[in-house]
This record gives sequence, structure tokens and C-alpha cells, in this order.
Amino acid sequence: MDTKPIGVFDSGLGGLTVVKELKKILPHENIIYFGDTGRVPYGTRGRDTVVKYACQDINFLLSQNVKMIIAACGTVSASLPQSVISCLSLPFTGVLLPAAQAACVTSLNGKIGVIGTATTIKSGAYGKAMRSIRNDAVITGNACPLFVPLIENGYIQPDNQIIRLIAENYLKIFKGSDIDTLILGCTHFPIIRPVIADILGDAVSLIDPGEETARVAAALLTKEHKLNMTKEPGSCHFYVSDSTESFAENGGLFLGESITDQVERISIENYPTQLEQ
Ligand code: DGL
Repeated sequence: MDTKPIGVFDSGLGGLTVVKELKKILPHENIIYFGDTGRVPYGTRGRDTVVKYACQDINFLLSQNVKMIIAACGTVSASLPQSVISCLSLPFTGVLLPAAQAACVTSLNGKIGVIGTATTIKSGAYGKAMRSIRNDAVITGNACPLFVPLIENGYIQPDNQIIRLIAENYLKIFKGSDIDTLILGCTHFPIIRPVIADILGDAVSLIDPGEETARVAAALLTKEHKLNMTKEPGSCHFYVSDSTESFAENGGLFLGESITDQVERISIENYPTQLEQ
């Protein structure tokens, strides 16, 4: 048993969709969340920059004495090399492998789609992971760079004509491709799941990285005997690198409940850009 918090990070608000799922299946766990709101988006940046930012985010969480780290960001999960992850001496998961595994199990015909940020899709990391799990997997990927800014700005209602038009344009590549499963490969995207589901229809199963990652995190903590066995409801502490007010205002949508806990601002650029071996 370990009552220390789980550390979760993302470039901004998207990782709260992972926290939402963690709170459902691990309600007694304390969580420390860092959203790098001063440097969002990550998904348009080069891999070196994403890795550097992710190391600073991880170093901040390590300074908070967490027992596990979750990279709740598709872009980071697709960019972090194994050599960096191996430096960590505590349980770690990104969102990519849990989502890739779930998609390989869910798909009947092996034809799987992935949508994500430009950096994620360019990395080819989802395809590589799925082909190593299922050698008959045929992957179709498409970058959806306008989704993150639209979602961050509240264009999320299923009847919103702007998000609908953009989504139809991004998803038309999948219409004739015969995919039966689509990974929402960016943690912002579950917010517009109803729009995507409506466009693709019932024949395509949608994989939410948050749900899958929360399951993997629970399994990892169980295996390491690090679950918090107290009966108290877990706490959530939020840290950001920009305005605390806008995070508290907008974060509720991603978390599925209003953010009443205090949000603190930190200077993320003061943390080391590499992990100690
Ligand atoms: N939430 C991030 C992801 O899962 C994307 C947002 C960004 O571009 O920073 O990829």
C-alpha cells in the first residue's frame, strides 16, 4: 500500500480526460496533475522539443514525490524514447500502448484508424505499436491539427456546425477505408466523441485513451502493491504554467466536474530538461 499521489501530465487540459477515468476506477487515489498551459500545443512541435518539455514535466512531478507517472498526452507518448522512460525508477505509462492494445483486441478485421496531432501521426508510433501486437493490422492515420485549438476554445457541442464541418473533412479518409476501430489518439479528442461517433456511425468502435490508460494504471499499481487502500476519497491538486483562472474555468468540461480544488502556477522552465539516470 502506498498513499503517495499519482502524477499525471499533459500539454494543457486534454490530460484531464485521463484523470476523469482514473477517478472512476481508482477513487481513493490522490492525484497531482500538471498542465503545461503556458507551452500548449505540443502537437505542432518537433520531437526534440516535445521530449525536452516532457522531461521538465516529469521532473516537476518527481519533485512532488509521486509514486507513478502517467503521460496523459498522445504527443508525448508517441515521442518519448525508451531510453528516457528507462531512467525512471517508478511505474510509468503513456496513453499510446494502452490505446493500441485495446484497438488490436477490439478490431475484428484488423483495419484500424488513428487520429492525433501532427507530431503524433508523423511519428508513426501508433502504427508501429499495433503492428507489433497484431501482424495483420492495417493502419490508416490522419492528423487533425485544428481539433485541439477548437476544443480548447469551446467548439465542442455535437450541433456546432464549425467542429462538425472540420471533423467531416478530417474523417472522410476513413469513410471508404473499411476500418472498424478508430483510436482517438489525442487526449483532447474524447471531448468531441459524440461528433466523431455521429459521423463514422455504429460500425466503427472508438477507443478512448483515457479509459484504457486508467485500466493499465490500476493494473500496474496492483502489481507493484502500490494501491492506496484507505477508504477516503482521493484528492486532486492541479498545477499549470499559465493562468490558473482559465484552467479552473475550462478544465471542468474535460474533467466532467467543476474544478474546486486550488490551482497553482509554477515555473516549469526551471526544471531540468533531462532525466537523471
Ligand atoms: N493532449 C495532447 C495529446 O494528447 C495534444 C494537445 C497538444 O497539441 O498539445 O496529444
